Amino acid sequence: MLHVTYLLGAALSIAALIITIRGCSPAEAPASGDSSQAIVELGRRLFYDRRLSANGQIACATCHRQELGFSDGRPVPIGAAGVLLRRNAPGLFNSGELASLTWANPDIRSLEQQIARALFVTDPPEMGVAGYEIIVIDRLRADRGYIRQFTAAFPADADPFTWSRITEALAAFVRSLAARNTPYDRYVYHGERAALSESARRGMALFFSPGLACGHCHVDIAPPHRATPPRWSDLAYVATGVGQSADRGLAEYTENPADAYRFRVPPLRNVAVTAPYMHDGSLPTLEAVIRFYESGGRQGAGAEPERAAARHPLIAGFVLSDEERRDLIAFLEALTDTEALQNPAFADPFRVK
Ligand code: HEC
Ligand code: HEC
Repeated sequence: MLHVTYLLGAALSIAALIITIRGCSPAEAPASGDSSQAIVELGRRLFYDRRLSANGQIACATCHRQELGFSDGRPVPIGAAGVLLRRNAPGLFNSGELASLTWANPDIRSLEQQIARALFVTDPPEMGVAGYEIIVIDRLRADRGYIRQFTAAFPADADPFTWSRITEALAAFVRSLAARNTPYDRYVYHGERAALSESARRGMALFFSPGLACGHCHVDIAPPHRATPPRWSDLAYVATGVGQSADRGLAEYTENPADAYRFRVPPLRNVAVTAPYMHDGSLPTLEAVIRFYESGGRQGAGAEPERAAARHPLIAGFVLSDEERRDLIAFLEALTDTEALQNPAFADPFRVK
């Protein structure tokens, strides 16, 4: 099991931290009142701060850029050790609403868990902090601005400079990254008939049609004020046929051969700005994604039989006219909250004052 090896490999203090974090549920809110805003602000600064990585070269924001919906525009990112990571960096908008995080690990169920992973993972490293825990903390402690911000965020702590507080603040910032003011949301949830163009409306009908079945897997996660319990939509793990056989997806984690090539069905809000697509970043545009589905999930010349056999029966192919393909793209583009992409509250505090 992946996380077991990880816990064994990690320093004892870190292991204790992960265990504490694994116990938290995503619904547990941080402290109340003024300090909760101070925690978000602290998290924002940490998110953009390269000093948080061992070599001082990489921030969370290196792989999660606001203008790209907090993805990074590359097929797969380069981690702190200069090594390519295995999977594409997903966007982070609304990720606090997700029941499970990452492409293929259903047991990562809170932002805190995933953030601890980004900081300390070693196979290969993302932020590369493992082994440099004290050095990095001392670096932050030497900054007067941080002394002020950590104290404002955690006024009751004798020493707030801990990895558990850093993780908590980063999670609070990521949880604040809401981006639901999309033409689609305005049309569906706020009754604004004019929010969607005619083309996008035709695309929406295609998306939810039984022939294309996109909406069967990419279920809408209703806005928090609309959702009835259970609040967290559990996204499924399915095989579309995309990718290389070297990455067996969910099966690598569960060790169940039936899970081979399954990946989490990604949420599609703000998808137009998070190219390239899929767990391996192998499809460069939305048009390429749609053509992939049109072909029944075939990619490249020699699709391996094992991967093809794992494909979900709904990935069976269909025929679209050029206009219908444009309509479907117009619908996917109507899932973008353009204001959130420029919201100063989410921006780099080292640049925007
Ligand atoms: C070197 C690039 C890189 C850095 C740095 C990085 N991430 Fe990520 N992040 C990724 C990749 C790749 C994934 C997907 C991992 C997977 O599926 O296995 C990811 C996934 C996530 C997710 C889950 C999103 C989802 O939809 O499941 C969150 C949340 C996240 N990162 C937050 C952060 C935070 C906060 C930091 C800073 C502490 C950070 N990341 C640093 C590359 C990076
Ligand atoms: C059987 C379930 C299923 C159906 C049907 C389906 N998808 Fe997907 N979709 C997935 C999964 C799973 C992934 C991630 C695959 C991977 O990376 O291995 C995905 C990925 C995507 C992505 C890339 C998202 C990203 O962040 O990289 C887009 C865009 C997308 N689908 C759109 C569509 C459209 C449009 C349709 C209808 C033509 C559709 N999907 C039908 C399961 C499905």
